[in-house]
Amino acid sequence: MKVLFCASEAVPYAASGGLGDVAGSLPKALYDEGVEVHVVLPLYGQTKEKYGEQLEYLTNFNVTLGWRTQYCGVFKLEKDGVVYYFLDNEYYFKRNGLYGHFDDGERFAFFSKAILEMLVNIDFYPDIIHTNDWQTALVNLYINVYYRQMPKFYNIKTVFTIHNIAYQGQYGREINDSILGIPGNYVHQLEYENCANFMKAAIETADKVTTVSPTYAKEILDPWFSHGLDPLLRERQHKLWGILNGIDYVGYNPETDKGIVANFTSEDFAAGKAACKAELRDIFGLDEGDAPIAAVVSRLVEHKGFDLVKNVAEGLINEGYQLVVLGTGEAQYEDFFSYLAYKYPGKVGVKLAFIPALARKIYAGSDIFIMPSKSEPCGLSQMIALRYGTVPIVRETGGLKDSVHDSQDGEGNGFTFANYNSSELYDCCMRAYNGYQDKEGWAMLVKRAMESDCSWAVSAKEYIRMYENTMSLWHI
Ligand code: GLC
Repeated sequence: MKVLFCASEAVPYAASGGLGDVAGSLPKALYDEGVEVHVVLPLYGQTKEKYGEQLEYLTNFNVTLGWRTQYCGVFKLEKDGVVYYFLDNEYYFKRNGLYGHFDDGERFAFFSKAILEMLVNIDFYPDIIHTNDWQTALVNLYINVYYRQMPKFYNIKTVFTIHNIAYQGQYGREINDSILGIPGNYVHQLEYENCANFMKAAIETADKVTTVSPTYAKEILDPWFSHGLDPLLRERQHKLWGILNGIDYVGYNPETDKGIVANFTSEDFAAGKAACKAELRDIFGLDEGDAPIAAVVSRLVEHKGFDLVKNVAEGLINEGYQLVVLGTGEAQYEDFFSYLAYKYPGKVGVKLAFIPALARKIYAGSDIFIMPSKSEPCGLSQMIALRYGTVPIVRETGGLKDSVHDSQDGEGNGFTFANYNSSELYDCCMRAYNGYQDKEGWAMLVKRAMESDCSWAVSAKEYIRMYENTMSLWHI
């Protein structure tokens, strides 16, 4: 089976969030299961700077986009059995950051069209093109409009994965006339609620639509979660799958991680975690003693549940918790956490930044990880916390619900609450606090957390099952 995996970011070449982690680890996991995976990414300025020397030039061609004709170069690199293609156009991709430019719609429409044009020009014959999020969503429509009639494309099947339905790639309809160039008889597949909507185009035209946890696949059929797309998704429900993400078990391994002060395993973690906790206290100037450290590593934005955290934080500190926060985001939350650190020195440590190396130390040195998201397609942080023996407290939504199970019954790996409500979060945190006082019971819980399987092993097989199912479909 051959798969072309299309993404706007992938670790380590360019990453800004969860999509980058998945695109950086799933292809390798598929390769380990025998799939031939080629990944295609934009050649961002920052990628070229860091990896330019390792890239091999393959070819170049022109891409037409509406009335424009744009250059596209293709570079290649092979790593751990996976082939990576990088599409080069400095006008679109040699910029600061990955997204947030006024012409993002045009940039990723170009990327999507260029992916198909690349296939015309190189010697790779995929069975499946797997696209991810709005940035590569238009591949699913362009293939039908402009490429199906070429023999190479007759039998290619397409899969589209939604990593977060909140970001759909919505633009004024005029973007089609001036840039996208979708002809009139296909426009209904692009437009939704009087806008051009890239994600809609993919939901309409891909052979399969997947999302990153089974629970989120159900949730997005409901208007509370769907950001307006639920009527369409309910219509297309027959092609919707939910497959839980995994994390990179080699990159995130407390037994071998060189970024933490002491290594540990699920069989022997007491001394190692204690050393990591001591270092964390040092870094954040927290008091010595037996207080549990609860951690937050996150973008500080509303849908991550920070309204709830705001309501309960002082209560928890007064009960005896210490709190460590790492992240950047909305001013209201940044201000709140700065104020908390100022008011409770020795009890609260805050760093308003995105520092992956420090995040590792927090995952390893904390006792409890708080993630009360309003919605969470999958979430990777709770999985990393589990792997490092830091017990998660989560709201039962999306992938949080599928990866963390309440330990009340003596079997789960964390603490969960159902409703988006501060007192439920508070009760949950206090259950964890009381659990922490029972040292023997807590050690068993940490061990269960560390032994939860968040690797790609199971999910990669599920992707293959989904690909096989997709390949057996007929196009009419
Ligand atoms: C997005 C989602 C997150 C998910 C990630 C990878 O960032 O918000 O929940 O884990 O994509 O699929």
